[in-house]
Amino acid sequence: MSVVSRATAIAHPNIALAKYWGKRAYGHNLPAVPSLSVTLAGMATTTEVAFDASLERDELHLGGAALPEGAEATRRVAGLLDRVRAASGRRERARVVSRNDFPTAAGLASSASAFAALALAASAAAGLPTAPAQVSDLARKTSVSAARSAFGGFVELRAGRPGDEALAATPLAPEDHWPLAVVIAVTREGPKDVGSSDGMRHTAATSPYFPAWVDAAPALFEEVRAAVLARDFAALGAAAEASALRMHASSIAAAPALLYWTGATVEVLAAVRRLRGEGTPAFFTIDAGPHVKVFTTPEAQGAVERALLAVPGVLRTISAVPGGGARLAPAGAIGTPSASGGAADGSAGA
Ligand code: PMV
Repeated sequence: MSVVSRATAIAHPNIALAKYWGKRAYGHNLPAVPSLSVTLAGMATTTEVAFDASLERDELHLGGAALPEGAEATRRVAGLLDRVRAASGRRERARVVSRNDFPTAAGLASSASAFAALALAASAAAGLPTAPAQVSDLARKTSVSAARSAFGGFVELRAGRPGDEALAATPLAPEDHWPLAVVIAVTREGPKDVGSSDGMRHTAATSPYFPAWVDAAPALFEEVRAAVLARDFAALGAAAEASALRMHASSIAAAPALLYWTGATVEVLAAVRRLRGEGTPAFFTIDAGPHVKVFTTPEAQGAVERALLAVPGVLRTISAVPGGGARLAPAGAIGTPSASGGAADGSAGA
């Protein structure tokens, strides 16, 4: 019987208040702009990695289903495992079993929680250091947003610089720094959008507004950062909305245009402005999809949920609060591949 080294990790998605969109041209998967996010509690990806000498290739099981060898998600997972093998001297292939406890069919899950959990579990299983900064750098090499999910609370990631090879996110403030609430307005179930990596590559290659976005992003990041530290909701809302809108403007100006929004997306933006006009604290952000993430206070969360559910085209809402970073879980936390069913259809590939 072959020796199996295994570890299980749990990580949470994060939502960027200052957006990452675009990579540096000099390789190493470095972000072209600084970003700042909030890691969420409540939604989680659990991933078990088992290095096993009897395996002939890396295997990926998502939500109870084995993915084919050539699948994009399998390829990205194998890329991260190759880095872990190179750093640890291990040669065995690994079985990766991953599940989300939140529905991913709507393209809501970013790759953040998936690759943060994978980086931590694979590092632990291979005997590599599991300090958050090392996990963050490893995750970032596959998915930039995943670097931020290594940490909890408010997390920042600077832009890449020439000569960088390692780059990790850093914690800015803990999860209890500021009790914000977020209400996600789900505006579509169904097929995925153009993935974020493809979307930003296309934008960088064809949008005349991409350089303007890269120029504008650092100042918006600084505004977001200062507002988070000062707990200034109005200032945070203004800067976060500008970051999301300028990111999307750069993509809308690509050729052909990359428009992630639907009519319902725009209706939600109008509803958020209406709420604000009535004195309810609320601001929005939008990622590479049609859903809108609305930040508010815990006191106003119920009112925001009701207002968003009343918007034509909003199918349902998901609510969350800031949460902790990636952590190791007890052995067996994932269950067996066949028992790990659920809605996860893309936890490592989004
Ligand atoms: O690293 P990725 O491929 O998950 O890119 C994330 C891009 C956005 O979600 C749109 C913005 C962000 O900073 O999370």
